[in-house]
Amino acid sequence: MKVNTADIVISAASRKQYPNQPIPEIALAGRSNVGKSSFINKMIQRKNLARTSSKPGKTQTLNFYIINDKFHFVDVPGYGYAKVSKKERAKWGEMMEEYFAEREQLKATALIIDVRHKPSEDDQAMYDYLKHFDVPVMVIATKLDKIKKGQRHKQLKMIQEVLEMEEEDTLIPFSSETGEGKDKAWKAMLSHLQV
Ligand code: GTP
Ligand code: MG
Repeated sequence: MKVNTADIVISAASRKQYPNQPIPEIALAGRSNVGKSSFINKMIQRKNLARTSSKPGKTQTLNFYIINDKFHFVDVPGYGYAKVSKKERAKWGEMMEEYFAEREQLKATALIIDVRHKPSEDDQAMYDYLKHFDVPVMVIATKLDKIKKGQRHKQLKMIQEVLEMEEEDTLIPFSSETGEGKDKAWKAMLSHLQV
């Protein structure tokens, strides 16, 4: 996939601000600091387009990026950051509901998890939540560069089992450090985007 143009469209705090062109989009979900922004940056070959937050868990917006004028990537605020107040957590939940329940343009979600660890309860809840809305999920197991080659198979199998992944959902080992898995990730995304 050749990315010619990639730009931020808007950091949307509510539905009213979502771009309303009828073009397909893929959302990126995952816990705070897992590597969502790094994933986007690697996929589109821009060092720093997707903003990385100095305050994990504080991001309150859905960040829409337009790629090749054809589709959107949506960077979703992370979850699972311990220092978030109850109020902030509730607000996050409302934002998720507002987006995932009704967004017509949404074709699939890339759920980013850390290949080194058992998916957290939040990861499991997020996967189930997306399935509840019938959204196809690509699970991106990132930070692949951080484990030994000999551990890969075991980790991937464990992730698949813990999430109880459905047949139709793909699991893609990935590294934002080395770019490994990038072609597979593009292939999966393009199959959902159909652009
Ligand atoms: P929030 O926006 O705060 O939720 O974080 P995020 O999920 O966008 O994570 P971000 O991309 O900012 O990455 C967090 C940290 O992990 C950074 O220090 C990255 O350099 C590092 N990181 C992300 N992906 C990888 C990877 O594949 N390999 C390695 N080694 N480090 C990674
Ligand atoms: Mg980020």
